[in-house]
Amino acid sequence: MPNRLPTVSAPELTVVVPCYNERDNVAPMVEKLESALDGITWEVVFVDDDSPDGTADAVRALAAQKPYVRLLHRIGRRGLAGACIEGILSSTAPLAAVIDGDLQHDETKLAEMLACFRKDPALDLAIGSRNVEGGSSGTGLSSVRKWGSDLATTLAKKMLRITASDPMSGFFMVRRESFNAIVLGLQTQGFKILADMLSASKGKWKICEVPYTFRERQHGESKMDSAVTLEFLGLLLSRLSGGLMSIRFILFGMVGVSGIFVQLAVVWLMLRFIPEQFAIAQAVGVFSAMTTNFFLNNMLTYRDRALKGMAMLKGLLSFYLVSAIGAVANVGVAELIYSNFPNWAFASIVGAFMGALWNFLASSLVTWRAR
Ligand code: GDD
Ligand code: MN
Repeated sequence: MPNRLPTVSAPELTVVVPCYNERDNVAPMVEKLESALDGITWEVVFVDDDSPDGTADAVRALAAQKPYVRLLHRIGRRGLAGACIEGILSSTAPLAAVIDGDLQHDETKLAEMLACFRKDPALDLAIGSRNVEGGSSGTGLSSVRKWGSDLATTLAKKMLRITASDPMSGFFMVRRESFNAIVLGLQTQGFKILADMLSASKGKWKICEVPYTFRERQHGESKMDSAVTLEFLGLLLSRLSGGLMSIRFILFGMVGVSGIFVQLAVVWLMLRFIPEQFAIAQAVGVFSAMTTNFFLNNMLTYRDRALKGMAMLKGLLSFYLVSAIGAVANVGVAELIYSNFPNWAFASIVGAFMGALWNFLASSLVTWRAR
């Protein structure tokens, strides 16, 4: 007797839904997809970063009844871009779409995107765009955010040589083969995966744009914050460096530069109280800078692995230790260079760079170790 194999047909489309604290949006999302994708073989993958509100449980409950609902549950990690990438990589369908899990994107446009791919076998990407005829940001964005989004769009288009009208959109469908061909060049950190994909594809992709109107959020709240803006700046700089520097290294560098200012300000202040005690003032300055660097890195550079509670205290201590060794390396290297090539500024800068590199590598291995 032949084996009885499960009778589920392979999907043509995987819909990837990144979600963080979207419990109440899961069931409505699936219902909306069911009516929007009527007549198509599809599946949906919710990529949840272990949301405290129990989003993963809501997905599991649905998946128990519906074989086309899947869950990718990530632990010890955070980040929209990385979630989208892993969701697409988990797909074996020829097409994958990404749509927000908060119902702000217009799922009825998915069928239109799919039609574009069926019509044109050379198409690589269909973008849901708010900036072409028929699309708009609607009331989904506040005026400040609309302004910021427009500015980011202009910057991305100029600096990354992108021609698509809405590279900031989080709503798109991609041919999985095309995606797999560029995935190694993508950054898992950050919010703007579409801009990164467009840049990584170096203008070689065939693209179509489908207009949509950005809706207002019904449940839960946005995860977009000022760190997202800095991450985006990091993405632009990372691309400009030809991928040599990661977003993380750039953010670490920005925090480091802020530390120089903290140190100078504290030393200046201390000297007003204890003008005779430079060594003490300098020591307090260095300590303050290490401390603010730690907290800023925890909030920004490593926010996907942010330490909390006791782990944060331990992290702070290990960061002091790492930075102290970095300072010794800094002085050692600078001295070595200076003794062979007596240009103080050059020696000093190379020393600082070595110290920063050590701090970055050591702190990512020790203080903010990936799980
Ligand atoms: N897994 C995971 N991990 N999902 C996340 C994370 C995360 O760290 N951060 C956000 N998400 C999910 C949210 O739960 C939501 O489903 C979706 O990603 C978008 O996040 P929002 O916080 O709602 O972003 P937004 O509405 O401010 O901005 C969105 O729309 C813009 C316009 O298209 C994003 O998609 C932007 O990239 C986009 O520009
Ligand atoms: Mn949203």
